[in-house]
Amino acid sequence: MSTLIKAARTALFAAAVALGGQASIAATPAEAARAALGRTATPAEVGAWDIDVRPDFQGLPKGSGTVSQGQKIWDGKCASCHGDFGESNEVFSPIVGGTTAEDIKRGRVASLTGNQPYRTTLMKVSTVSTLWDYIHRAMPWNAPRSLSADEVYAVTAYLLNLGDIVPADFTLSDRNIAVVQQTMPNRNGMTLQHGLWPGRGQPDTRNTACMKDCAGTVKVASAMPAYARDAHGDLAAQQRTVGPTRGVAIGTAASVPAAAAPDEKAGAKLASQYQCMACHATDRKLVGPSFTEIARKYEGQEVRDTLAHKIRAGGQGAWGSMPMPPQAQIPDSDLRTVVGWILEAK
Ligand code: HEC
Ligand code: HEC
Repeated sequence: MSTLIKAARTALFAAAVALGGQASIAATPAEAARAALGRTATPAEVGAWDIDVRPDFQGLPKGSGTVSQGQKIWDGKCASCHGDFGESNEVFSPIVGGTTAEDIKRGRVASLTGNQPYRTTLMKVSTVSTLWDYIHRAMPWNAPRSLSADEVYAVTAYLLNLGDIVPADFTLSDRNIAVVQQTMPNRNGMTLQHGLWPGRGQPDTRNTACMKDCAGTVKVASAMPAYARDAHGDLAAQQRTVGPTRGVAIGTAASVPAAAAPDEKAGAKLASQYQCMACHATDRKLVGPSFTEIARKYEGQEVRDTLAHKIRAGGQGAWGSMPMPPQAQIPDSDLRTVVGWILEAK
């Protein structure tokens, strides 16, 4: 850009700043400069962002949809990720399941208070407005905000029907959604009576902030137990490679070094320590194949990684329909030793 044009631009900008300054007497030059950039958003622009639907249904667009219309939308746009009946655990926790007629009556999902590990959307969500809002703003995951209001009503109705919250011939609409709220299984499951709600009670930790002579290094008091770490595969391999965040390297079978020195005594000891001998013997079939049979089958093949992985993850089919349960708690080095030992069995 030539110096001349640059100079002209600077002058123009200065003039704009000066004009802005005149328009609003109180504005500082910096404020005036900001005011000269951009413009006030139009109501349509604000409206496009202002899509939240609140628990009192403020913000809910008018419309309606039936369970059977919802089923079509579900099958076409949702089932590939969430399963035909919202039960898939593949891309996300299941959406449907875990609620009972008793929960619907009470407004409190009994299984949430137990120790069962799976928590579905319908178990947790306490307001139907949230379900509507979330689907409307975020789903389908690959095309958010592509559904019309009527389609959101329909697919919400379908999910509620899968949870036995509304009947199969139901039409969900802005006019009856408040009635449906009264049958949400976990509608009474939320509370404001806890320490983290502003102005109430105590925080849920009682630590005093350290202001001087603080510890130089922090000792983490608890960590994920080894057997739980690879529930979702190798987290380290799933992390983006920029920035500081890394998953814990969990040492899947791939990281089990190929060459393992067979160690007779140590192998036998580990096999009994890890209860392998409850199902296996060296020389005869028990629940699982004998170790000599295993060694014979894989003779001359490099199967250490595969077998280590199989022992860790469990599996069936190589020897019959009886499955071997997963044994994720065994450290890599022990797994290596025991596999090496089995492959030497005679
Ligand atoms: C391409 C895969 C994909 C498709 C298609 C898809 N979803 Fe999802 N859905 C996801 C993922 C992933 C999440 C979790 C997103 C997150 O937590 O950020 C999710 C979350 C949800 C949740 C919230 C669950 C919760 O408890 O927070 C609902 C409800 C939902 N989806 C409904 C739908 C509906 C209805 C459709 C079809 C209109 C749909 N999804 C299509 C992948 C998908
Ligand atoms: C509850 C019973 C049970 C226990 C405990 C058990 N296994 Fe197995 N194991 C089996 C069964 C059943 C099979 C056959 C699986 C198949 O057909 O794919 C098997 C298969 C195997 C195989 C061969 C796998 C293949 O794909 O050929 C190896 C190696 C093995 N077990 C090692 C171990 C070791 C090491 C332990 C202890 C850490 C152990 N098993 C504990 C039941 C068990």
